[in-house]
Amino acid sequence: MPTVFADVDTGVDDAFALAYLLASPDVDLVGIASTAGNTGVQQVCRNNLALLELCGATGIPVSVGSALPLSIPLRTAEDTHGPTGLGYAELPAPTTQPSGFDAAEAWISAAHAHPGELIGLATGPMTNLALALRADPELPRLLRRLVIMGGSFEYRGNTTPVSEWNIAVDPEAAAEVFAAFGAQSGALPLVCGLNVTESIMATPQILARLADAAGSPTTEMSPQDVRGTRSTATNPLIRVLEDAMRFYFEFHFDQGEGYLAHLHDPFAAAVALDPSLVRTRSATVDVELHGTLTRGMTVADFGAHWNRPPNAAIVVGGTPQQSAPLADVFFERYIARVAPFARRLAS
Ligand code: BDR
Ligand code: CA
Repeated sequence: MPTVFADVDTGVDDAFALAYLLASPDVDLVGIASTAGNTGVQQVCRNNLALLELCGATGIPVSVGSALPLSIPLRTAEDTHGPTGLGYAELPAPTTQPSGFDAAEAWISAAHAHPGELIGLATGPMTNLALALRADPELPRLLRRLVIMGGSFEYRGNTTPVSEWNIAVDPEAAAEVFAAFGAQSGALPLVCGLNVTESIMATPQILARLADAAGSPTTEMSPQDVRGTRSTATNPLIRVLEDAMRFYFEFHFDQGEGYLAHLHDPFAAAVALDPSLVRTRSATVDVELHGTLTRGMTVADFGAHWNRPPNAAIVVGGTPQQSAPLADVFFERYIARVAPFARRLAS
């Protein structure tokens, strides 16, 4: 059974990723680290605890991470994810508490408790992971694999013209993580950048398919709806996912991308559980820290110009064996797992 540790800045799409992990019957989610990013770290922690409660999984420890990036002030993204990070979703205040561990310690103790077994998933800025690597440089060799949602490869950024959000919030941390994996033998981190994750587009039709498969009648969302219209789904998990997603749809719509949303983090979660979903290219990745226009850019050396060992397996697409586009394969899988889970929660 895959043993997973997730470091998240929940976040609408992080919430969808957690739902996927919790819904996957073959996964042992041994810890969740809260990282500052889409919103402040205390709010991220509350979101994680509240989601676990909604999903009947309060036994999973949630740790609190650093309130700030390694060396710059924190920026947050309430414009993208809503005032609490969960769009329009309103979850009751959690009745559980975070674990006594700091998130960096939680990374280290999870890796030592499951040597060679742990799958790490990072879907937020990598502050906690960088701090964990400073404290225990052996960490890369202890992990079975690490999957990162972050960066953008031969593709535009979403925070600056060249930088992706998770890297832009804490570029120093990202640079330290890539450097640490270059310095150690072990599996290369699988890196899901915008070049692939922006092709994973959720639409109202896909959300309606999810609700339908969960046996939860709903009203399909539409760009004509009054902003902030609440879900009519009867299933509590589907309702939260829809209320969260509506905000994310509205954000993307306002960006001129259509009434849809990129599901970066759930896609990375799916890759974490099953890397055979994707095709990768190995490269040496470094993060630009000094450029006046390009700070936070993930630069991939595919041609060995730097003469440094590869430190990343960059996800570049689906596999030739897949008969459908990668996004279709992903959403098929997402609905097949999350819908029955939502049904079970309501029964
Ligand atoms: C990443 O940025 C965040 O806003 C999302 O949660 C995702 O992890 C995409 O750039
Ligand atoms: Ca995220």
